[in-house]
Order: sequence, then structure tokens, then C-alpha cells
Amino acid sequence: MVSKKMEKALNEQLTKEMYSSHLYLSMAAYFESLNWPGFGTWMKIQAQEEMGHAMKIYGYLNGQNGRVLLAGLDAPETEWKSPLEAFKAANKHEQFITASINELMALAIDEKDFATQAFLQWFVTEQVEEEASTQDVVDKLTLIKDAPQGMFMLDRALAQRGAGA
Ligand SMILES: [Fe+2]
Ligand SMILES: [Fe+2]
Repeated sequence: MVSKKMEKALNEQLTKEMYSSHLYLSMAAYFESLNWPGFGTWMKIQAQEEMGHAMKIYGYLNGQNGRVLLAGLDAPETEWKSPLEAFKAANKHEQFITASINELMALAIDEKDFATQAFLQWFVTEQVEEEASTQDVVDKLTLIKDAPQGMFMLDRALAQRGAGA
């Protein structure tokens, strides 16, 4: 059982995770329009993972006698100035999501809702990974600048995510 306040906050997080999926699929389409299929693959997988995060919350809310209530999603951006700008935006978005998860955890602690604290711990750990993985690509793109050879190598490396790497 979760409180009404917690139910509302979890539903809001569910919507944010779905928006994350929406945003990363839009970034995938942007990269594919630039003919960088590896970047596109990486972002498509990222979009699937975000939908997975939304479904984790869906399952938790249902299991806790909460009611899942879907909300509308904002339209994501469709263009970025460069691959670097897109990944900077992804990293900034992950920082926003981390802050949102931290707020949820603070509420769970405040309410002495130990089950939700345990549930959210997975997200706390996941966010460390999410910030690091997007920052890693930002760092690589910063080093590469616009050198085509570097871009080809990074595109090939990012495509490996689709191969289970
Ligand atoms: Fe997420
Ligand atoms: Fe994420």
C-alpha cells in the first residue's frame, strides 16, 4: 500500500520515464537522419530501457494497490546543433531525472515508506550509471570535435550496444 501522495509522485515519475523514452527515440531519429547508425542504435536501446523503467513503476504501483494513471507527454525536441549538443542534452536530462528520483526517495523517507525506499534504491543506482554513460559520450565527442575518423570510430563503438555490449 502506498499513500495517495506517493501514488501521485510515482505516477509523475512514470510519465517522466516515458518522456525520457520519447526524447531518446527522437534523438535516435536525429542521429539516423545524419547517417550515424551506431549513435541511432545506442539511442533506440536507451529509449527501450526508459520504457522499461516506466514499466517497473507501473508494476510496483499495481502491486501496491496503487492506480496507474497515464498523462500526456510533451513533444520532444527533434533537432540539435550537433551530436555533441544532443548528448549534452541527454546528460542534462539524466541529471534532471536523478533530482526527481532523489525527491521521491526523500518523500519515501519522510513517510517512513520502507517498501518504496527499497524499490527506489534500484533507480538511485541506475541514475549513477545513466549520468556516467551519457557523460562518457560527451567527453569522447568533445575530444573528437569534428574529426571524421573519430566520429566513424565512435559510431561503430556505439553500435556495439545493439550487439549486447
Ligand atoms: Fe530512466
Ligand atoms: Fe535514463
